[in-house]
Amino acid sequence: MDDIGKVFSPARLRALELRNRVIKTATYEGMSPGGVPSDALIRHHRDLAAGGVGMTTVAYCAVSPNGRTFKEQMYMRAEIVPKLRELTDAVHSEGAAVSIQLGHCGYFSRNTALPGRRSIGPSFRINEYGLMSGVPFARAMTMADIAATVEEFATAAALAVRAKFDAVELHLGHGYLLSQFLCPATNRRRDQWGGSLDNRMRFPLAVLRRVREQVGPDFPILAKTNLRDGFKGGLELEESIGVAQRLEAAGVDAIVLSGGFTSKTPFYLFRGARPLKEMIEVEKNRLQKLVLRFFGSRVIKEYPFHELFFLDQARAVRRAVRVPLVLLGGILSLDNLETAMRESFEFVAMGRALIADPDLINRMRRGEATRSRCTSCNKCVAEMDRNGVRCVLD
Ligand SMILES: Cc1cc2nc3c(=O)[nH]c(=O)nc-3n(C[C@H](O)[C@H](O)[C@H](O)COP(=O)(O)O)c2cc1C
Repeated sequence: MDDIGKVFSPARLRALELRNRVIKTATYEGMSPGGVPSDALIRHHRDLAAGGVGMTTVAYCAVSPNGRTFKEQMYMRAEIVPKLRELTDAVHSEGAAVSIQLGHCGYFSRNTALPGRRSIGPSFRINEYGLMSGVPFARAMTMADIAATVEEFATAAALAVRAKFDAVELHLGHGYLLSQFLCPATNRRRDQWGGSLDNRMRFPLAVLRRVREQVGPDFPILAKTNLRDGFKGGLELEESIGVAQRLEAAGVDAIVLSGGFTSKTPFYLFRGARPLKEMIEVEKNRLQKLVLRFFGSRVIKEYPFHELFFLDQARAVRRAVRVPLVLLGGILSLDNLETAMRESFEFVAMGRALIADPDLINRMRRGEATRSRCTSCNKCVAEMDRNGVRCVLD
């Protein structure tokens, strides 16, 4: 089979068979008002499934109310399982599988409902993200906090199974809680949860183990990790290879290779334009709006876009592990898909290209399209805070 044929051929993720190797990666939808999944969210994922992906991913679902970045975010609980079940049924009826990304924001929170208005993280710190919203500090997690959070991940995963998801994706990247533990700059602990990479991995691995116990041996667990955090003092490639090796040894089923730290290097995640004007428009907090207006271009660093922008770093991980890897980052064209297969990645994940063209995969398979119309304008990033994520080219 040639490389392009391989993209459209079925593949297994543990006991799960996917009809092809394209995964719609998590892009926060902004379609869960009051933290409850809406009909719009169901339509969004049904459209992606009908458009041909092998698996779609419901984006950031917090494992507990305190794991929310802001109050409106969805968090896993028994009350939303019936609505999630509608979503998984809708996706399955279109022949695709569906995963859900489970995460905890750690210190990166604006959630004023947090006890004492303090977020939690590996170490005490100023919470630059929540400062203007009245959540100025994060406190260092205690052993009891860590144990409770491990259980929250496990319970959330068990509820995901009940809602008939086909897989869960643990968020170990982008500067969220587990990524904060992995990052040397944000984890300054001197106990067994900080210091060496083995110590910094202890919490993410405890989560993986307990989630595995809850979901059973056949259920696929993916992890989204950072290749680099993208700033001095952050996680670097050499250690992120070690992260992948430890996840492989602990029995993860696939690793989605990403990068960037939302509170420090947000545009390292996607590259391309910074839609500052639109971000200011949708910002609800007045102070934050002012900061963005006057300092936005200085504090939010820009990274030029190029296709397959994580490929070079991802290759280094490919050489070091055998566990299935998902290549992500600037995948726009048939050529890009072909490259991913040729470079021995088992899966590809696409975000913006599929926000722009949910039916891209079917059209590529039928020979009607060779690339996405996405221009990396990144205005979809602002749209998710307006009326839900969408492509402004529509
Ligand atoms: C609008 C938008 C929302 C995003 N939300 C999430 C998210 O909730 N969780 C996550 O892991 N990544 C999120 N990302 C990052 C994407 O998953 C992906 O890593 C990034 O967009 C690069 O892939 P792409 O070049 O195919 O878009 C988001 C990206 C965009 C554009």
